[in-house]
Amino acid sequence: METSPFPKSFQFGVSTAAFQIEGSLDKDGRGASIWDEFARRPGTIVDGSFPAVSCNHYADWEEDVRRLQHLGVDAYRFSLAWPRIFPDGKGKPNPKGVAFYDRLIDRLLEAGIRPWVTLYHWDLPLALHHSGCGWDRPDIIPVFTDYCELCFRTYGDRVQNWITFNEPWCTAVLGYGTGYFAPGIRDRAACYRAGHHQLIAHGKVAALYRESFRSVQNGRIGMANNCDYRHPATPTNEDRAAAERALEFFLGWFADPLYLGDYPQSMRDTLGDLLPQFTELEKRDIMGSCDFFALNHYTTNLASAPEGSAGTNHASGNGGFMEDLGVDLSNDPSWENTHRNWRIVPWGLTRLLEWIDRRYGHPGIHITENGFSIAGDTFEDLINDSDRIRYTQAYLNACADAIDKGVDLRGYFHWCLTDDFDWANGYSCRFGLYHTDGNTGSKHIKRSGDWYAELIRQHHISAK
Ligand code: BG6
Repeated sequence: METSPFPKSFQFGVSTAAFQIEGSLDKDGRGASIWDEFARRPGTIVDGSFPAVSCNHYADWEEDVRRLQHLGVDAYRFSLAWPRIFPDGKGKPNPKGVAFYDRLIDRLLEAGIRPWVTLYHWDLPLALHHSGCGWDRPDIIPVFTDYCELCFRTYGDRVQNWITFNEPWCTAVLGYGTGYFAPGIRDRAACYRAGHHQLIAHGKVAALYRESFRSVQNGRIGMANNCDYRHPATPTNEDRAAAERALEFFLGWFADPLYLGDYPQSMRDTLGDLLPQFTELEKRDIMGSCDFFALNHYTTNLASAPEGSAGTNHASGNGGFMEDLGVDLSNDPSWENTHRNWRIVPWGLTRLLEWIDRRYGHPGIHITENGFSIAGDTFEDLINDSDRIRYTQAYLNACADAIDKGVDLRGYFHWCLTDDFDWANGYSCRFGLYHTDGNTGSKHIKRSGDWYAELIRQHHISAK
């Protein structure tokens, strides 16, 4: 048997998010979220679907833990639904919602699976949004901090890994800039304010955790940022600079304040007053606040200096972000495509990990999402998903290459456990290791699920 290319301590896991898998949206006192409202608006979800049942996780959670056990994962990343815990976002917590996650965490630990808990994966309580308290306004910060405090107090004796925000870039750009995601706001300035308030909220929550909980609970806290790799379209200085700038506007927007103390200079130069300033106190809370670097990564694009004044890409009409970025994005025709138009470029992940390693001083990195969506016509196609096996193997090889090159990569979470409600894509995207019928919630393991289980088993036996 070959030795695993990953160290013994490397953690394999899978990820999910509450709104995408739970269903039971009206059950046990859950309040509505911005996505409950947004997904009902005509034209917002490509296949017109709504996750009333989805993966039925709220009802079927015990079976889902058994599915995790079948995969043999070391860790499971899931998110807490803020509107289940506080139906109106604040005030009196909902005991049944609180108890649901208590049971789940206990059962995971009994099964020997470490919970990695995301506090915010996009399901802002609708009541807050309606009262004008969204990410584009600073009023949200103390409300979010109170919610997180309750979570630390309630679950922190058993949860050791906390993620404040999932992909704040998406919330800012897609939620408040282009309006492609909930709450559907299209406003260039609101986009940068939404990013800013998430960073400040993260800093406050991390400081609260450090000061009031860590000494007893012994856990760690971080933020999960998404980034596609940007490779220069040609070796010219202009295209190299374009690729660097694109990475700064993508990952640097959030990781620079966390690791280097402020936004990238390229963003400050371009955006001027559109990019808010941090106070010294906020900077102190934010810088150095992450105990691990969590990265969500799916694909790579080529970057080039634009011919005209504005950048272009497939996400046009974006409320200003792409124009502000000023980089043209394209793809190499030789790269294999996926049905989401995400290209399969495993070496892009290795390069991105090296970029992070250099820029942020060799942090311990966990890939908290990586995966592949296919659209199959028949149940058999969806179950026999050999392409997902090929994609995942190639990206895991890219992870091993990064480790060989000296990157401190400590874990890999596959997105997703089950075929879930994929936000604006509804059920048209299928990312799961388990096939799921979004109308009934019934699940079947795919070939990729059995393959992932075997890969983890071999790793546990052979890793040094
Ligand atoms: C990430 C999110 O963007 O990738 C997940 O954190 C999401 O929640 C996944 O489902 C797939 O991406 P997309 O763009 O298809 O929603």
